[in-house]
Amino acid sequence: MPEHDRPHVLMMSEITVDGKLTLKRGASSKILMKYMAPETELLLHQTRAEYDAIMVGANTIRIDNSFLTVRLVEGKSPLRVIPSNRADIPPNANILGPDARTVIAVSKAAPTENVVRLRESGVDVVVAGEDEVDLPGLMAILSRDYGVGRMMIEGGPTLNWSMLNHRLVDEIRLIHLPFIVGGADTPSLVGGMHIESEDEMFRLSLKRHFMCGSNLVTEWDVIYHPVPHE
Ligand SMILES: NC(=O)c1ccc[n+]([C@@H]2O[C@H](COP(=O)([O-])OP(=O)(O)OC[C@H]3O[C@@H](n4cnc5c(N)ncnc54)[C@H](OP(=O)(O)O)[C@@H]3O)[C@@H](O)[C@H]2O)c1
Repeated sequence: MPEHDRPHVLMMSEITVDGKLTLKRGASSKILMKYMAPETELLLHQTRAEYDAIMVGANTIRIDNSFLTVRLVEGKSPLRVIPSNRADIPPNANILGPDARTVIAVSKAAPTENVVRLRESGVDVVVAGEDEVDLPGLMAILSRDYGVGRMMIEGGPTLNWSMLNHRLVDEIRLIHLPFIVGGADTPSLVGGMHIESEDEMFRLSLKRHFMCGSNLVTEWDVIYHPVPHE
C-alpha cells in the first residue's frame, strides 16, 4: 500500500534492557512506567500531543486500563484507536470516557450486543475484516474518514507484531529502562510468531539517540526489504 493511503506510524515503547514491556505476563506496564524519568514522561505526553491518533491493542486496555490522553503538557489528546476482534472492551474502560474521541475497530465476527453497547457508550465502532481486524484496511479508514496523517502505537507485543508484519510501522522510538526482568514468557517489544530465517528479520537503521533525563532514548527507521513493486 503506498504510504499516502495510510498514516505515518511511530511505534513508541518503554522497554527494559532485556527487551521486556512489563514485569510478567498479565501485569500492567504502569508498574514499570513508574520508573521512567520525569523528563521522559513529558516526552511521551509531548509525542502524544504531536500525533493525530494513538493505537494500542485491546489486551493492553484490559490489563493496563490506559487513558491514552495528553495530561502532562499542553495540547490536544489524539484520537484513541483500539482494535478488538470481538469488540471485547470492559464497560468501565477509561478509553470509553469523554476525555478524547475513541474509535474501536472490530471484525465482522464481533457479537452485535458488544458493538451496540460500545456505540451506546459514545465511541465510534469501525468494522474492518472478517474474523480479525484488517489492519491495512483500518489504516486506510483512519486516513480517509478521520484525517489521521500521523499515528503512534504504544503496544502491546501482539499488536506491534501485526503492524510490523503488515509493513505498517515507519519509525520506532524506544525509552530504555535500566532494568532486567527476565521471564521466558514475559511480553517483549514484539510478540507473534517466530521467524524461520534471517531473510524475515525486520531491519532497522538507528537515526538518533539521546539522554532524556536519566533514560536513554533511541530512534530507528524500519527498512523493509525487498521494497514491494520495485
Ligand atoms: N511497556 C510498554 O510500553 C507497553 C505498552 C503497551 C502494552 N504493554 C504491555 O503489553 C501487554 C499486553 O500485550 P498483548 O500482546 O497481550 O496484547 P495487545 O497487543 O495489547 O493486544 C492484542 C489484542 O489486540 C486485538 N487485535 C485486534 N486485531 C488485531 C490484529 N490484527 N493484530 C493484533 N491484535 C489485534 C486483539 O484483541 P481481542 O482479543 O479483543 O480480539 C488482540 O488480542 C500488557 O502486559 C501491557 O502492560 C506494555
